[in-house]
Amino acid sequence: MGPVSPARTMRLWLWGPRSLGVALGVFMTIGFALQLWGGPFQRRLPGVGLQLRQPWAPSRGPSVPSCTPRQRLVFLKTHKSGSSSVLNLLHRYGDRHGLRFALPTRYQFGYPRLFQASRVKNYHPQDGRAQPHFHILCHHMRFNLKEVLQVMPSDSFFFSIVRDPAALAHSAFSYYKSTSSAFRKAPSLAAFLANPRAFYWPGARGDHYARNLLWFDFGLPFPPDMRTKRGNLHPLRDPNPPQLHVVPSGAGPRAQTLDPNALFHPAPTVANGRHQMSSPTSSDLESSSFIQWGLAWLDSVFDLVLVAEYFDESLVLLADALCWGLDDVVGFMHNAQAGGEQGLSAAREGRWTDEEQQLAAQARTWNNLDWALYVHFNRSLWTRIEKYGQSRLESAVAELRARREALAKLCLVGGEALDPKYITDQRFRPFQFGSAKVLGYILRSGLSPEDQEECERLVTPELQYKDKLDAKQFPPPVSLPLKPSRLLSP
Ligand SMILES: *[C@@H]1O[C@H](CO)[C@@H](O)[C@H](O)[C@H]1NC(C)=O
Repeated sequence: MGPVSPARTMRLWLWGPRSLGVALGVFMTIGFALQLWGGPFQRRLPGVGLQLRQPWAPSRGPSVPSCTPRQRLVFLKTHKSGSSSVLNLLHRYGDRHGLRFALPTRYQFGYPRLFQASRVKNYHPQDGRAQPHFHILCHHMRFNLKEVLQVMPSDSFFFSIVRDPAALAHSAFSYYKSTSSAFRKAPSLAAFLANPRAFYWPGARGDHYARNLLWFDFGLPFPPDMRTKRGNLHPLRDPNPPQLHVVPSGAGPRAQTLDPNALFHPAPTVANGRHQMSSPTSSDLESSSFIQWGLAWLDSVFDLVLVAEYFDESLVLLADALCWGLDDVVGFMHNAQAGGEQGLSAAREGRWTDEEQQLAAQARTWNNLDWALYVHFNRSLWTRIEKYGQSRLESAVAELRARREALAKLCLVGGEALDPKYITDQRFRPFQFGSAKVLGYILRSGLSPEDQEECERLVTPELQYKDKLDAKQFPPPVSLPLKPSRLLSP
């Protein structure tokens, strides 16, 4: 923990363990008096029994860890997986702490092409100087580790988010209805999934949105029968196979192999005194070993993969892994489509109808690589939850939800996401795309300046927030007055 300011000491007293007894009582009394007198700084939430810290106050985290907060982060922002809500908390955290973002010139890093370091604003490899290392890389890309490591230190915290392909298919279908030619031709998602090959043509425009979108975003190679022009990976036919790039020693356990394609190249090894191929042969490229190799590679690169269906559980684990406070990960859902995904967790299987069950099965079969990916990372998440402790997690999740609710009451008109037709302030109106409306927020009026600032951060959609960070990092050049001012004269 850093230096402890008087204000922070006060907070620690006010919210510290009950065992502080009489002293705490005295401070509580003072705190209550301050509350009566001082307005916005502390709130008692009726019925919740929770003292909400000022949301922008540094937080002690769920478990008072004695660790250093991680501030070098690579977030692979996957599509239609709840990643915009994660982006908002990264934007807020970086903004509050003055961290440098590796930003795209516009809003994505050349997607759907693989990420290239040269796409990052203010990246100048020709300088010959040490690279300007950034703190956070988090905008849409197709993951490409080798190039990411040109921009970010290899000991950065790598994380991402996945979602059940059954739910992802619904979201992608309405969002990319006109972008993907396969979806455009299909009258409905049910019709598409009943016979995808009638609509889907590898190499057609936006084909990656229509099948195994997660696998694509993670930058993994596709088996030969699924290869598209964009997949553009020909591991066995490429006459110039990529080298095995080994991360310099001391760089930490980050992937030994920078390019996942290299894993799929036959490389001679010695086993039992005989030369063998260490990579699968073409006949078993489609088999599960192909998938297992891809997943093992991801495991060696990513420190944590969140699961949209267990979003709040994931956020608690994220805060724990980053040594951040719960306040740092609490936020509102962003980029949700009307009638679709207000409750990502509402899509948990137990509540599905027979028809939904059937669609889900078809979506998972069609997106078989994504399904494998999802099952794998869902398992990893739950292994982690067990390690963290089920009941400890449950109480942290309850606390997170209470804080979110409190913030919604404080900041939002109606306390929830609204139809964009009501949002006239362009700073907060989410970009509209696809066939469903993208919901956003309206701020309550009469907020104190401090609350206004934090509430604005919470509701600013990703594109506007990116512009704001961009302007902060790259301020427009100050035009000098025509006559030198006196201060500048000798
Ligand atoms: C994810 O893991 C949880 C806990 O093990 C399990 O209940 C759930 O069915 C899993 N979901 C999928 C789709 O595998």
